Amino acid sequence: MKIIIEDNYENLSHKAAEVIKEQIGQKPDSVLGLATGGTPIGTYNELVKMYQNGEIDFSEVTAFNLDEYLGIEKKHEQSYHYYMQEKLFNKINIKKENIFIPESKPKNPEEYCKWYENKIKEKGGIDLQLLGIGSNGHIGFNEPGSDFKSKTRVIELAKQTIEDNSRYFNSEKEVPNKAITMGLDTIFKAKKIIILASGEKKKKIVKKIVNLEQTEKIPATILKKHPKTKLIIDKAANTKDLVSN
Ligand code: GLP
Repeated sequence: MKIIIEDNYENLSHKAAEVIKEQIGQKPDSVLGLATGGTPIGTYNELVKMYQNGEIDFSEVTAFNLDEYLGIEKKHEQSYHYYMQEKLFNKINIKKENIFIPESKPKNPEEYCKWYENKIKEKGGIDLQLLGIGSNGHIGFNEPGSDFKSKTRVIELAKQTIEDNSRYFNSEKEVPNKAITMGLDTIFKAKKIIILASGEKKKKIVKKIVNLEQTEKIPATILKKHPKTKLIIDKAANTKDLVSN
């Protein structure tokens, strides 16, 4: 796992956007895996700026989002459908038919998850996956204990995640307790991965991911054996003992 330490959140966001720009430059019909949460917002802002300056063309890009809350209305401001439209898709020239985000109310969730997993394969797999990290080490919504071999599926959110994500809702009770998430194996199959962590709150988990052996108790540790993963953090998320390598 390559570690890149940036001075601040702005530089981290710029760096992540540069990696995505480079990917699309090399392969205009790239398949991107995209994430939500607070961390990638700066990256999406940078990508929008790059698009407006004519530096990136998303017309042939396909995007698969990692996850979505189960049962939430798509038009709910905290749904990941809403987030992606607002933060990125409405502002760039990606084609509607090339956007995939897990359904929030599929009729048959199990069948739907299989369909989503197959759709990723059908499109040739993910070229570059963008990830954030939950404070408990989750990636997507793969909570601690998730099988490293897991595929896209319905998952029950950990108490910690509900608590963390309640800051975006009016109350903790409003946070859905289930989600659909790409599995850990789905994520691991991406050809390249960038994982972002910013701010003091991510210090502890970053340290664990870097220093501990792979363990299903900390889902993000699966990436330690991925051949092309870049962990991009800012100084605030660094415990001081990590250095760029
Ligand atoms: C959510 C998402 C994750 C994300 C995590 C961290 O639970 N499902 O994909 O990485 O939150 O969010 P934040 O970046 O806001 O700390």
